[in-house]
Amino acid sequence: MSEISGDDERERARAEYAGGDVMFGRIDHIGVAVEDLDAAIALYETSYEMELVHRETVESQGVEAVLLDVGDGHVELLRPLGPDTAVGKYLAKNGPGLHHVAYAVDDIDATLPRLAAAGIELIDAEPRVGIRDSRVAFLHPRSSGGVLTEIVEPAKGH
Ligand code: CO
Repeated sequence: MSEISGDDERERARAEYAGGDVMFGRIDHIGVAVEDLDAAIALYETSYEMELVHRETVESQGVEAVLLDVGDGHVELLRPLGPDTAVGKYLAKNGPGLHHVAYAVDDIDATLPRLAAAGIELIDAEPRVGIRDSRVAFLHPRSSGGVLTEIVEPAKGH
């Protein structure tokens, strides 16, 4: 019985998302800060058998980044371009590890004002270009329970 109601619950959630009522559609990716990108890729590609699907230098975020597929979502490995970048500072303070979580939205221009109205502090009041031509904005961990949170509107087809 509980399995059936679980399915119903998921079906309802899907229908709500399709209707635009749910703010976050899914987890798009988790971001992981790394010092050695090739060593990290070896871990995810070889040991975890994930497929590397994209590699890009994202100057606006000061990182060289890759995406690996896991189901509908991704792992995003981030190597800072320098010590004075956001990820570079994070690594110096915390060492390698989980950096942020990214939720996918249909319309980032509509979502950011909703979050601001809910009292969430936006690092980016306006979306900027993220990896693979996505549009992204970050929420301040001060107002998101200590979790650096990214909102991402994926480019069409992703
Ligand atoms: Co990200």
